[in-house]
Amino acid sequence: MERLVIKGKQRLKGATRVNGAKNAAVAVIPASLLTSSQVKIENIPHITDIEWLIEILKALGAKVSRLGKGGLLVDSSGVNSFTPPHELADKFRASYYLMGALLGRCGQVEIPMPGGCNLGPRPIDQHIKGFTALGANVNLEHGLVKIKASKLKGAHIYLDVVSVGATINIMLAAARAEGKTVIENAAKEPEIVDVANFLNAMGARVVGTGTDIIKIRGVPSLGGVEHSVIPDRIEAGTFMIAAAATQGEVLIEDVIPKHLDPVIAKLKEVGVPLEIGPDWIKVLAGNSCSPADVKTFPYPGFPTDLQAPMMVLLTQAPGTSIVSENVFEGRFRHVAELKKMGARIKLEGRAAIIEGGRELISAPLKAADLRGGAALVIAGMISRGETIVEGIEHIDRGYEHLEERFNRLGAKIARKKVTESVFPG
Ligand code: EPZ
Repeated sequence: MERLVIKGKQRLKGATRVNGAKNAAVAVIPASLLTSSQVKIENIPHITDIEWLIEILKALGAKVSRLGKGGLLVDSSGVNSFTPPHELADKFRASYYLMGALLGRCGQVEIPMPGGCNLGPRPIDQHIKGFTALGANVNLEHGLVKIKASKLKGAHIYLDVVSVGATINIMLAAARAEGKTVIENAAKEPEIVDVANFLNAMGARVVGTGTDIIKIRGVPSLGGVEHSVIPDRIEAGTFMIAAAATQGEVLIEDVIPKHLDPVIAKLKEVGVPLEIGPDWIKVLAGNSCSPADVKTFPYPGFPTDLQAPMMVLLTQAPGTSIVSENVFEGRFRHVAELKKMGARIKLEGRAAIIEGGRELISAPLKAADLRGGAALVIAGMISRGETIVEGIEHIDRGYEHLEERFNRLGAKIARKKVTESVFPG
């Protein structure tokens, strides 16, 4: 196993570029199964979730090759299976996009219930509701989701909850269905717009993404495409918060600042000095920030994916902050770890009450999910002493070489191979 060893009290300084958005890339790659023509995708991050997806596409019969840094060539003409290998598909959440994509392509799919970060209950009832409305039969048998449709037909679907995954999955299946599909109460995340742009460039007819009503007119076939994935707003936000927490000065390049509006607004509210350019954001060196209340919501609300990093920043703000997690009820597993470092945080239902302004002291920590893991790395960088973070396979699932990139900005983080965990049992 590997762990990170972080020498604390280092200020980040310099410039970094943001990679392509994980949560767009993990949908765009399965979407390439909807055509038998060649698809070229740029700006794909080197992360484990993507490696697993590539393995799955190959196992289904596609030819997939890497093109330099971040490029991917997918030729799905040879796809001859609708059963992604179970041992790969149940490792990560985004494998659920193979449902919509394979249903759209083959009319059927058999896949394990998706795995991924444990953020509390993560049902897929809205995905299933969408597929059923499109005319598919869905059965859950022995942990497998079996979906089959003799013909997919457009339908009017009102989502009960605003769901990124369900919105994209229904879009994928509906792109080649017969007739018109309308998704109401759709999620509005920029990654959904990116997937729609990809589909439309292949010849699909999707309008309304970025609003809560999406209309898809199905087409019989889709063609080849070249597409570049949008920048990762969550990665950008992670670097912004890390810069602010270390009171450093970091230029973050290749971003779409508009996608970060809720994060920019919150960081300004707590007193982090920022400069914003057309495709960059600079965090300027500041003093300790002020406390604030943060409420996570679907886009354009404050992203749940930055709740954990933001909480680390708020541990440094003298006074009381309240962080309310309104998207995933179990997304507080980083709290116990931050408390080991001396942070004063009390959990009350979906709220974390933080008494900030105390120095964090290093401790052995265990990451339990991707963004919580990134938050622990930030906590390590601002704490006194040397912090160990285990469970870093979660971080590698979604950040490309996170510690190397922090190191280039002045952090002191070593990745070490070890045979034993510091945690007993
Ligand atoms: C996506 O997850 C992202 N994952 C998550 O990123 C992100 O945190 C989340 O959207 C919210 O922005 C990918 O894009 C691969 P949801 P997803 O469906 O699609 C409930 C990261 O760290 N719900 O929008 O799984 C659900 O339980 C990750 O990068 C249902 O009730 O999220 C949650 O409370 C982790 N039924 C809420 O909706 C359903 O059928 C929003 O979930 C689907 C969801």
